[in-house]
Amino acid sequence: MKISIIVAVSKNFVIGSNPKGSKLGELPWHLPKDLKHFKETTHGFPCIIGRLTLEAFGDLLPNRFNIIVSKKEEFMNLRENKKIDLPEYEKGVTEKGASYVVVPTVEDGIHYADNTLKTDLVYIVGGKGIYETSQPYTHELIITDIDTHIDDTDVVVYNPFPSEEEKSKWIQVSQHHHPKDDQNNFDFSITYYKKKEEILINLPPPSPSFLKKHPILK
Ligand SMILES: NC(=O)c1ccc[n+]([C@@H]2O[C@H](COP(=O)([O-])OP(=O)(O)OC[C@H]3O[C@@H](n4cnc5c(N)ncnc54)[C@H](OP(=O)(O)O)[C@@H]3O)[C@@H](O)[C@H]2O)c1
Repeated sequence: MKISIIVAVSKNFVIGSNPKGSKLGELPWHLPKDLKHFKETTHGFPCIIGRLTLEAFGDLLPNRFNIIVSKKEEFMNLRENKKIDLPEYEKGVTEKGASYVVVPTVEDGIHYADNTLKTDLVYIVGGKGIYETSQPYTHELIITDIDTHIDDTDVVVYNPFPSEEEKSKWIQVSQHHHPKDDQNNFDFSITYYKKKEEILINLPPPSPSFLKKHPILK
């Protein structure tokens, strides 16, 4: 199974406002073209999503199997300050086209995608800790670099290449530039990287508590 990180970052590696701060995790840019890229790329594939990203978005990502990483079982729509109605989705894929499972760790989410969903491809859709934890197991990085510097301090930061050593593990495959226009308030570029195969780290086994709940048959 291929694991792919998809992320949008500013020049100073901001990925969003603090979900627990006054801006409730909103994105500090308006780029419908990049959202379209996100939707089209991930459509139909399982997505591994952190609890706070889900709560900032306010609902499951439609048309995708949402693998929610959390030790909780209930989730809030932060903006509307109400519970996210998961029972609506309990019977599996609804007319909104979403379904979900809650897993305690990123690694359990990857095992679930591989062995239970038997998908060929899973997307890691953030936030920070979910990206950082999954990066050693990840085959592909899809990075939207946004041509802006975010001055706000109450933000979440993720740098995909925090060192020369990390950067050297990746090969750039393609890059497309998108100039700003009436609808999109910054220039941005989307770059695909693939990892040099020999550098992939093996996934640790699923956690015993998760295995009890979801026996995984290989
Ligand atoms: N620009 C982008 O491409 C992009 C993409 C996604 C998100 N975002 C932004 O990122 C922000 C939210 O991200 P965030 O980093 O604050 O929260 P997050 O990663 O979405 O959620 C954090 C929660 O995930 C659970 N978790 C489980 N394993 C974890 C691990 N290894 N590392 C970290 N968390 C783990 C914990 O949930 P429990 O406490 O429930 O156990 C933790 O509190 C928002 O601003 C959002 O807009 C931006």
